[in-house]
Amino acid sequence: KVVAVIMVGGPTKGTRFRPLSFNTPKPLFPLAGQPMVHHPISACKRIPNLVQIFLIGFYEEREFTLYVSSISNELKVPVRYLREDKPHGSAGSLYYFRNLIMEDAPSHIFLLNCDVCCNFPLTDMLEAHRRYGGMGTLLASKVSAESAYQFGELVADPITKELLHYTEKPETFVSDLINCGVYVFTPEIFNAIQDVSTHREDRANLRLISSFESLQLATRSLPTDFVRLDQDILSPLAGKKQLYTYETMDFWEQIKAPGISLKCSALYLAQFRLTSPDLLASGDGTKSALIIGDVYVHPSAKVHPTAKIGPNVSISANVRVAAGVRLICCIVLDDVEVKENAVVMNAIVGWKSIIGKWSRVQAEGDYNAKLGVTILGEAVTIEDEVVVIDSIVLPNKTLNVSVQEEIIL
Ligand code: GDD
Repeated sequence: KVVAVIMVGGPTKGTRFRPLSFNTPKPLFPLAGQPMVHHPISACKRIPNLVQIFLIGFYEEREFTLYVSSISNELKVPVRYLREDKPHGSAGSLYYFRNLIMEDAPSHIFLLNCDVCCNFPLTDMLEAHRRYGGMGTLLASKVSAESAYQFGELVADPITKELLHYTEKPETFVSDLINCGVYVFTPEIFNAIQDVSTHREDRANLRLISSFESLQLATRSLPTDFVRLDQDILSPLAGKKQLYTYETMDFWEQIKAPGISLKCSALYLAQFRLTSPDLLASGDGTKSALIIGDVYVHPSAKVHPTAKIGPNVSISANVRVAAGVRLICCIVLDDVEVKENAVVMNAIVGWKSIIGKWSRVQAEGDYNAKLGVTILGEAVTIEDEVVVIDSIVLPNKTLNVSVQEEIIL
């Protein structure tokens, strides 16, 4: 049997995702029309003998209740949200819920970060992991040498694929092969985490008896139950024939800032072409708008037949798109109204926002630049004929003048 655990973090973790994480937990932000966490969950569903999926986080329980029950019904696999009373770190939180995770006596445990976008080749990873015979296998990917410092950098044996060296976000370049935040472990991982806590406890006790000065030091060090998977487990266990790597040649992105979610939405829409083409708008029929490329339209949205939509557009529930509107490369969230002849390009339009007639909300489309994607927070009103370029508008603002390269607070 196999179980999967998805780390969803908590409200203090999603701060870089503002203004889109003010009212919606980042893991539920829609990419290609589905909550971010839905993509790893559907990938887990494809693992043979999967018996349970756990989401572990420190968001309020009620934020996930609805989603967890609907996805469990849809996939016919129990999905449970487990709430930590405080953050325990990526490995500490797995350990904290070890009894529940081991309930079905699984032989393997998948661990996935919720804020990564890839095609999650989990079954292939499991096969490779069985072949390697170690305690854990992590998904690795090549990125550009300039961007590698943002991730865990690693060195693997070219033949055996053993993880030989691991450094978390190093200041000087080590390798362009990085940790994707997707792992498979045997239950041995719990002993490894336990060892880290025990060691830390021993050290803290030693310091306590030695002197008052050290007491201060000890209280400043990490709590014994806070264990990070990368620094505390992967680094020390590299080169000990316990950890292996599986390299993906397919797409991989990390979702920290809001702009990149537009690229991830495009990647997932493109993947739907292969996995679930029924989710993509076809544009067939005389009453339908003109659809270009990969587009998702929620069934409750109303799109005028003279609108032109795509590529890479995702339209959420109850959105109204009026006549003559042009939408290119954008995410339009629930209850938005786009009025006649407005243009939205390289932008994310927050829940309940209103875009006036003949107005333009657009950006250059550089996903990694701070203002490369225009973002309207929740309930923003753009009045008629107003142009918003390369800007971020915080929730509940009304714009009656045009702006460029501004953050409207
Ligand atoms: N439940 C819970 N509790 N989740 C947590 C906690 C915690 O205490 N701390 C982090 N997480 C979740 C985050 O929400 C995220 O999904 C994942 O665990 C990893 O978060 P971080 O520990 O903040 O690391 P990171 O995202 O900066 O980097 C990690 O992922 C990269 C890949 O995206 C590292 O493992 C890097 O090496 C790796 O490249």
